Amino acid sequence: MYRSHTCGELRLINNNQKVTVSGWVQKSRDLGGMTFIDLRDRYGIIQLAFNMDLDAELCESARKLGREYVIQVSGVVIERSSKNRNIPTGEVEISVENLQILNKSKTPPFTIEDDTDGGDELRMQYRYLDLRRNPVHQKLLLRNQVALETRKYLDSQNFMDVETPVLIKSTPEGARDFVVPSRMNQGQFYALPQSPQTFKQLLMVSGIDRYYQIVKCFRDEDLRADRQPEFTQIDCEMSFVEQEDVLQTFEGLIKHLFKTVKNVEFEGEFPRMTYKEAMEKYGSDKPDIRFGMEFQDVTSRTQGKGFVVFDSAESVLAINVEGAAEFTRKQLDELTDWVKRPQIGAKGLVYMRYNSDGTFKSSVDKFYDTVELEKWASQTGMKPGDLLLILCGDLDKTRKQLSELRLHLGNQLGLRKVDEFKPLWVVDFPLLEWDENANRWHAMHHPFTSPKPEDDHLLEVDPSKVRANAYDLAMNGVELGGGSIRIHNKDLQAKMFDLLGFTPEQAQAQFGFLMNAFEFGAPPHGGLAFGLDRLVATMGGSESIRDYIAFPKNNSGRDTMIDAPSPLEDEQMNELGIKLK
Ligand code: AMO
Repeated sequence: MYRSHTCGELRLINNNQKVTVSGWVQKSRDLGGMTFIDLRDRYGIIQLAFNMDLDAELCESARKLGREYVIQVSGVVIERSSKNRNIPTGEVEISVENLQILNKSKTPPFTIEDDTDGGDELRMQYRYLDLRRNPVHQKLLLRNQVALETRKYLDSQNFMDVETPVLIKSTPEGARDFVVPSRMNQGQFYALPQSPQTFKQLLMVSGIDRYYQIVKCFRDEDLRADRQPEFTQIDCEMSFVEQEDVLQTFEGLIKHLFKTVKNVEFEGEFPRMTYKEAMEKYGSDKPDIRFGMEFQDVTSRTQGKGFVVFDSAESVLAINVEGAAEFTRKQLDELTDWVKRPQIGAKGLVYMRYNSDGTFKSSVDKFYDTVELEKWASQTGMKPGDLLLILCGDLDKTRKQLSELRLHLGNQLGLRKVDEFKPLWVVDFPLLEWDENANRWHAMHHPFTSPKPEDDHLLEVDPSKVRANAYDLAMNGVELGGGSIRIHNKDLQAKMFDLLGFTPEQAQAQFGFLMNAFEFGAPPHGGLAFGLDRLVATMGGSESIRDYIAFPKNNSGRDTMIDAPSPLEDEQMNELGIKLK
């Protein structure tokens, strides 16, 4: 037997017991007469004691152990004279009688401790060593718990786990596909699924009624902290449901997960907000509602006073930063530089201080007198001590920029607390958005999303005004998931493809299988998918999903550990019938 106990479980009650443990050498301290070693496994750390007087030879061997050697020791549990209150095993140690080296280790390229000295790239290259660190273990453990509780909840609600294929057909909607060449069908390619969307709809046609899958999805898009080229969805679909049924069911899932995994209970129902309101108040379809700073449209209030920057702008939008009138000139300059960075792209930032003594000071005093500034303050609900920040320009761009600024200030002022969770259903998304580059309509969610029946008549007249039966769950500024009630009627689906610029032939070639299936008694259905990585990262209080994925890709989509992607041998390329340009 390699072990009778793990490194994390020994306590005073084990005093005098003879035990065997195995693990990795984390640290060793040589105090002359005594040598101490911290031995680590997944469950914790236990101190090993080697006494020169008891067994000099054994003590000598212990001194030679390097970091990350894998060893097995047997000995007796004894009470420590100097206790370590920081670890659960800190009251005891093992007085070692037997030591066996199970495997040697080279000196690792960074320290395998909670706070490591390894940089990002190095840790990615040696991810298997990074994964030995306790904080990273904890993140994977959290992911495991969330996945397990998801299965329990969905199973209790009659959802059936069904696997769908990974080698599928490339389709032009959504993000770019990752493609896989076919050897047996030369010149033809499979695509990896961006999601199992069409398959889960077909499963509804098959009468599965409630489907779920914790499933890998693949999207060839530019990466960000919350985006990986391969990621995992909790993908779900239900038959005979309306939007309300879907929202209730999955609000139930999120509540179950937070209760069982984090012991967090949400009071009452999750708040809901229309897309329109979210964009007006927060400039984002996934607003972080842990704090206020809602947008105020001051366009009409600020225009016509000779300040050409405002006068020529489509929109002038402001946020009131409570208690920030004390921001120094330097801080305001820094904020201005921040919004002017290419990633944000604002031309400048206008501010107005409502000083505690009741006076106003703005960066545009030349154009606006105190009477005007007072009106700004009253429209935006400012109090003495507050700071108004204003951006202007094209409406969509300005909203985006101000939304970034709002989140930035939220971070700066500590308003985005990691242990506070604020879910929000965003509903009534537009069905379509105009794609300037392609000069055509684009499905805002995906082409299988149904329009709201009451907006049906607008499809022909003004597609931009049609709202979709689509919804997202946002939490803490992250889009955790989204879905819709689907089209289940062939004619409406065909009309949708037509609106999206497909010819009937193209629609048939790309999605014929789905439209044909709709002719064989497709039930009304709808569903949604959560991003598991984002959900777990949000629960863990992190914006980056990378740490919650065992083997993530870096920002260029590379796995530097296995060195992928990589070129193929000529022979493989020949077999596939592929020649590089
Ligand atoms: P959608 O494209 O909104 O919907 O994706 C659902 C959820 O998946 C997560 N997600 C990602 N997570 C990490 N990296 C990515 N690159 C990434 N892309 C998406 C997000 C998102 O909310 N088939 C539909 C769902 C449906 O209609 O039922 C779909 O895939 O958390």
